[in-house]
Amino acid sequence: MTNDSAPTLKGHWLWGNLKDFNADNLGFIESAARQGDLVRIRFGPMRGYFVNHPDHVCKVLAARSKSFRKPAVVKRALSDILGENIFTSNGTAWKRSRQALQPAFHLRHVERYTQIMQECIERELQDWRPGAIIDLEAAMTRVTMHIIVRTMFDADLGDRADELTAVFTRLFHLAYRRMKFYALVPNWLPTRSNREVKRLSTVIRELLRSYIADWRAGKAGEASLLNLVLGPEDGAKMSDEQLINEAITIIGAGYETTAYTLVFTWLALMQNPAVSERLYSEVDAVLDGRRLRLADVKALEYSTRVVKEALRLYPSAWGLSRSTLEPVEIAGTALARYSTVLVSPWTLGRDPRWFPDPLRFDPDRHTKENARAIPHYAYIPFGGGGRTCLGSHFALMEAVIIIAAIAQRYHLLPLPGSAAGAKSVAFTLRPDGNMRVRLQPRVPEPALRPGFIAARPALVHCT
Ligand code: HEM
Repeated sequence: MTNDSAPTLKGHWLWGNLKDFNADNLGFIESAARQGDLVRIRFGPMRGYFVNHPDHVCKVLAARSKSFRKPAVVKRALSDILGENIFTSNGTAWKRSRQALQPAFHLRHVERYTQIMQECIERELQDWRPGAIIDLEAAMTRVTMHIIVRTMFDADLGDRADELTAVFTRLFHLAYRRMKFYALVPNWLPTRSNREVKRLSTVIRELLRSYIADWRAGKAGEASLLNLVLGPEDGAKMSDEQLINEAITIIGAGYETTAYTLVFTWLALMQNPAVSERLYSEVDAVLDGRRLRLADVKALEYSTRVVKEALRLYPSAWGLSRSTLEPVEIAGTALARYSTVLVSPWTLGRDPRWFPDPLRFDPDRHTKENARAIPHYAYIPFGGGGRTCLGSHFALMEAVIIIAAIAQRYHLLPLPGSAAGAKSVAFTLRPDGNMRVRLQPRVPEPALRPGFIAARPALVHCT
C-alpha cells in the first residue's frame, strides 16, 4: 500500500530545485539528504526523487532495475560525442555492449595490465625531481590517460596525453552544460557550443581511427583490450564507428575518475599523517625496494583500503541518475512513470548511520570483518547492480600501483592555500583548490634496486 509521505524539497515555483542544483550540486544533495531518505524534487517540469537509503538504492540499481533506465537527457547530451555506447544505452543495446565488453574486464584479464600501469607511472616519474613542485591533477590525468590508451590499443600517446585530456575535459564540460538546460537545443543546430563539440569530437575520433587502423592491421599486441573484447573476427564485423564509440566511452569513463581518485587519495594522505605512515611502511615492507609485481598488489592490503576509503569520502562519480519506466513503489511512495531518480555515493558514504564519525578518514572500515557491517548499497563508489562500473578492478589495481610507485620515492607536501576538500565540476568531483605539491625525496631514501631511475636533483627549484 502506498501513502505518498515523501517530503518535498522547497524550491522556486517555476524552476523548482533546478537553480539550487545547478548552483551547488553537492550542497543541494546534502540538503535533500537532511530532509529524509526519499525526497521529492523538481527540475522545472521534470518531477523526481532523491533516494538516500541503502534499501531504496538497492531497489533502484538492482532489485527493480528493469523498471529504470538511464535518463533520456543524459543520452541526448552525449549522443553526438559518444554515439551508441554502453554508458548511455538501455535495454538490448546495453545488454549487447555489456556482454561484449565485460569478459575483458574480468580480474584475470585486468591483471595482465600490471606491467603497462607500472611502465606508465615510471615514465611520469622520470620527469619528477626532488624539491620540485608538480601539479598533481595534471600528472595523475596524464598517467591514467596513457594507461587506458595503451591497454586498449597497445598504442603510445607520446606527448599527446595532455592534449587529449584537455579535449575530453572540455567536451564533458560542454555536455554537462547541455544537461543543465535539459539538452533542449538539438545537437545538430550550429550553435557555437555545438560547433565546438563537433570540432573536439573530430580530434578524438581521428586519433582513435588511426589506432583502430593499426589494430586492424594487426599491429596491436595480443593482450590489448580491444583484442580481448572483440577478437580479430568480431572486430572485423564491427564498423570503425562502433569501435570508436565504445572506445571513447571507456576512455571517458575510465581516465578522469581514476585520476581524481588518486588526487583525493593523496589529499587524504597529506591530511592524515598516521595513515600515510602506515601506507609507506607497507609499501616498503612489501616491495623491499624493487619493482612491483602482480602478487604485490594483493599484498598491498592497507594501501588498497586507503584507496577504498578515499572513494568513500570522495567518490569521483558523485551522482547517478535514472528515470522510471513504469510506476515503482519505494518506502510506501509510488514513484510515477518517467520520474527522475537521483542517487548519490557522496551522501551515502558520509551518512553517520552507516559510517560512524563519517568525516574521519579510516581505511580500516574496509577490513573484511568491518566491511561486513556496512550495508551493501551504502558504499557504492562504483555504482551497483547490473550496471556496476565495468572498470572497478582495473581502477583499484591502477590506483594502488601508482600510489605505491610514488610512495617508494617521494613524500608529497601540500603548499600553503592548497585544496582542503572537494567540489563538483560537471560529472565528477574535483579538489576545491589547487593540488600543487612539493616533492620531498624519502629520507632516508629507501634502497631502490637496479632498474629504477635514480632520483635526480631538480633542474628548477620552485619556491
Ligand atoms: C575510480 C575510478 C572509477 C569510478 C569511481 C567509477 C565509477 C563508476 C560508476 C559509479 C558507474 C555506474 C554509473 C551508473 O550506474 O549510472 C560506472 C560505470 C562504468 N564505468 Fe566506471 N568508474 C571508475 C573507473 C572506470 C574505469 C577505469 C573504466 C574502464 C576502463 C570504467 C568504465 C565504466 C563503464 C564502461 C561503465 C558503464 C557500465 C554500464 O553501464 O554497464 N570505469 N563507473
